[in-house]
Amino acid sequence: MLLLSVFVMSSFMGSFAGTFYEHFDITWGDHRAKILDKGNLLTLTLDQVSGSGFQSKREYLFGRMDMQIKLVSGNSAGTVTAYYLSSEGPNHDEIDFEFLGNLSGEPYIVHTNVYTQGKGNREQQFHLWFDPTKDFHTYSIVWNPQRIIFLIDDIPIRVFNNEESIGVPFPKRQPMKLYSSLWNADQWATRGGLVKTDWSKAPFTASYRHFNAEACFWSRGNSSSCVSDSVSNSGWHTLRLDASGRRRLRWVQKYYMIYNYCTDFERFPQGRPRECRRHVY
Ligand SMILES: *[C@@H]1O[C@H](CO)[C@@H](O)[C@H](O)[C@H]1NC(C)=O
Ligand SMILES: *[C@@H]1O[C@H](CO)[C@@H](O)[C@H](O)[C@H]1NC(C)=O
Repeated sequence: MLLLSVFVMSSFMGSFAGTFYEHFDITWGDHRAKILDKGNLLTLTLDQVSGSGFQSKREYLFGRMDMQIKLVSGNSAGTVTAYYLSSEGPNHDEIDFEFLGNLSGEPYIVHTNVYTQGKGNREQQFHLWFDPTKDFHTYSIVWNPQRIIFLIDDIPIRVFNNEESIGVPFPKRQPMKLYSSLWNADQWATRGGLVKTDWSKAPFTASYRHFNAEACFWSRGNSSSCVSDSVSNSGWHTLRLDASGRRRLRWVQKYYMIYNYCTDFERFPQGRPRECRRHVY
């Protein structure tokens, strides 16, 4: 019985997990992006000539994406590793993680943003409670019709609720692909651009493994097909924070949040964005 259920689960999961070959296309950087270990590992590199990147073959309209990432180690100042969902076109939607490198031993910044219909300006930034360059850690985006939750190792760091009822657009009509790239942004990334990329340390490398998507897949011209099943489904389509999730979010916000657009009163002299006037979760 146990064997049987394990088998059923793994055959079902095949449509979600699978290799990097099945899920992604390398889109720039030529040999700088590599799929290794029979499709179980992907590495991006950056050198003085170019960065590199990949994108999902599929488009998603809601889902939960988990990826284990090990960020550029050592002196990563000036480098940015971006990991995000985005739709196409001028009024695009986007859900962003960006990891801003730093000098050896100095903390990375995790930068997050949410764009709806082409408009972002919703940055929140964090330091981390671990060294993201020593090991792989899981970075997740849960995107359902009610909210977007950013998680790191299953700890919620940010929630963006659907506040359409008070006139805040929410991404829910445009399918998105998943993208990741490693590039040079030393004009702004590290200490606001003061610290430049040290090219003598190049190439810089970020590694990816254990991608998992539980999602509604979109195919153009057809309605989306939502692949979910009771065995592997984590309940992403109705996921919300429970008491322990809220406690963890408050812990992250208290000790690790370094910037929140919602409390940047100087930036919004006309009044903060509407969603900021609501409770955050
Ligand atoms: C880099 O280190 C400095 C000094 O500790 C810190 O203020 C900054 O937030 C760190 N991160 C980035 C990306 O600049
Ligand atoms: C849409 O669905 C039809 C019928 O199921 C299928 O033949 C066609 O290939 C699909 N189109 C796309 C773009 O996926």
